[in-house]
Amino acid sequence: MKFNILTLFPDMFPGPLGQSLSGRALENRLWSYKAVNLRDFGLGKHKTVDDTPFGGGAGMVIRADVVEAALLTITNTPSPTTNHRIYLSPRGTPLTQTKVKELATQPEITLLCGRYEGVDQRVLDAYEFEEISIGDYVLSGGEPAAMILMDACIRLLPGVLGNEETPLEESFSNGLLEYPHYTRPAQWTTHTGHILEIPNVLVSGNHQSVKDWRAAQSLALTRKIRPDLLR
Ligand code: ADE
Repeated sequence: MKFNILTLFPDMFPGPLGQSLSGRALENRLWSYKAVNLRDFGLGKHKTVDDTPFGGGAGMVIRADVVEAALLTITNTPSPTTNHRIYLSPRGTPLTQTKVKELATQPEITLLCGRYEGVDQRVLDAYEFEEISIGDYVLSGGEPAAMILMDACIRLLPGVLGNEETPLEESFSNGLLEYPHYTRPAQWTTHTGHILEIPNVLVSGNHQSVKDWRAAQSLALTRKIRPDLLR
């Protein structure tokens, strides 16, 4: 899978994606990226990429012609069929695991990271950018959002997770939050002397009981923390 990233801060990449699981996968060429600096397509002596908004108001807007010029170094066709385009924005459709699974099947995705007040709407419309948000809060730019989307896709690529790391049940895989996990020691004494045990059912040796307990925990946690998932 290939990610093209249009950004004013190309040095932010691969950033955390160069570490751990995604870092190993990058070395093994299971995914690749090209960070394109929007500044390279800026206008005039100062390489200006933005301007004040028509209609007035605060902030600056990234110019459509600048984004287009950067885009044309990746693809010369405005058709989204061969190259899925995403604009990261708090205004977008919320990213979900279902959406991540769909995106992870694409061979190539282009991610546009905004700064300032946003990007001229015309380039988003003309090049059919899909707008995606990673949550209901505002970041200072789209780059961390792009990294989160990339991370979520990369771990689903074939060969990225080893068999031992592939969870059969993880949060959202069945529409519910995951049950709690425990490991040794079975009896843990905290530094203040509290003795904390594990749920007995987990050492009962009864697989069906363990399964039932985990299912009940999943449901109870979801009901408490994310009741919206049950609706
Ligand atoms: N850019 C700024 N905030 C964002 C968010 N919540 N999601 C995606 N991109 C963003």
